Amino acid sequence: MEVAVAGVGYVGLTTAVCLADIGHTVACVDIDKNKIKSLNDGKSPIYENGLNELLNKNKDRLSYTTEEKKAYQKADVIFVCTGTPSRSNGSANLDYILDVVYSIKKFSNKDKVIVVKSTVPVGTCDKIEKILNDNSRHKFYVVSNPEFFSQGSAVKDMLLPSRIIVGTEDLYSIEVMKKLYEPLTKIPYCAPYLLVDRRSAEMSKYAANNFLALKIAYINEVANLCEMTGADIKEVTKTMSYDKRIGDSFLNAGIGFGGSCFTKDTKAFSYLGKTNGYEMKTVSAIVEANKKQNLKLLDEVLSNVDNLNGKKVAVLGLSFKPGTDDIRESVSIINVDTLLEYGAEVNVYDPMVLDSFKKLYGDKVSYYDTIDEAIKKCDFAMIMTEWDEIVSYDLNKYRKYMKKPIIFDGRNCYNLEDAKKSKIVYYSIGRKKIGKDKI
Ligand code: UDX
Repeated sequence: MEVAVAGVGYVGLTTAVCLADIGHTVACVDIDKNKIKSLNDGKSPIYENGLNELLNKNKDRLSYTTEEKKAYQKADVIFVCTGTPSRSNGSANLDYILDVVYSIKKFSNKDKVIVVKSTVPVGTCDKIEKILNDNSRHKFYVVSNPEFFSQGSAVKDMLLPSRIIVGTEDLYSIEVMKKLYEPLTKIPYCAPYLLVDRRSAEMSKYAANNFLALKIAYINEVANLCEMTGADIKEVTKTMSYDKRIGDSFLNAGIGFGGSCFTKDTKAFSYLGKTNGYEMKTVSAIVEANKKQNLKLLDEVLSNVDNLNGKKVAVLGLSFKPGTDDIRESVSIINVDTLLEYGAEVNVYDPMVLDSFKKLYGDKVSYYDTIDEAIKKCDFAMIMTEWDEIVSYDLNKYRKYMKKPIIFDGRNCYNLEDAKKSKIVYYSIGRKKIGKDKI
């Protein structure tokens, strides 16, 4: 099938490359010349596990362009994968999507199926269909097809999905979508292919993401209470996980979620409730609880020091989670900002994203590509992201290199027995504090 994908961010590029891998011819369109140049040079502009390999494997079926006209005219199916960032009132900004929609309308020369993969408020596909079909010589069929990609495993999530959700009631697009996804649905043990009405498909993405965010926000509150009562969150979640209705995923307590998806989707869902005259109380609680949790580690730091001014701190891990080069809405950013406001000297370490961090902070912080160097002579260290390099880092080295081996771990990377043995001061989330020294 001839496909075009509008927007080559994490979602668009993964979608495009995987569609090519299952046999379609895919033209990727983006207004960002640098991204298109990099792709034409055979290099993915983003890091996503397995993406570069797949991009090169399928290079004969993939093309990259900033010229919308040619790509949109040739395609039978166009995927809309542009971002929907938050506006200041929490609503999803649909400007990038509408830009694509108007240019599809302008350049189209035949009937087409338009597949909306971007996360959009319920009713957006209806609006898009109206814009496209009003006074048009061609017929546009708009389908909602939300993605459930987790950054770091997005390729796997597309090729071995938990479910494929197709939202449309129109017979022509039902047939086209079935054919498009056939290579994925005919393999043994394939994911359920769920054909639902368009508004339910749009809602399904927000409902799933907010539920996952709710699990995290809830377990973090339980962790905070564990600290106050002497219970241990790791033991508590272990006991909970044996209940099949609860399961064992998304129960890792820490300094709260970051990343563009949960941050914007919780706000947008809350806003969607408000615009329908309904307050989503659980969703407002997620946003509030997570905001507080993002500064939990710093609150503990502040209760352990008289004055942060001039103290030297190592911030370990900068991406919003391990396995990605994305720092959007990363919890480390709000923590580094606050540390700098208090006058601390900040060393940062990350195995992947030092360059993008440099663009934000310039010479305000010092950058290190080894943990050994980042923690040298520091008064304390804060662990923000559970990269393998950090989780497997020898605890004794903190004692060896730091001025005082005081660790605030926002991701519960180490077990308490090991922390005790290595004679460091160790504060983590929802567990007992090890050691007494103050900063
Ligand atoms: C999420 C959804 O998982 C995915 O289905 C959707 O399509 C996009 O949003 P992603 O943002 O890539 O994916 O990351 P995810 O693994 O869900 O983690 C989000 C944040 O939650 C990270 O900051 C992570 O550290 C945090 N998290 C996750 C926890 O704090 N505890 C957990 O148990 C799980």
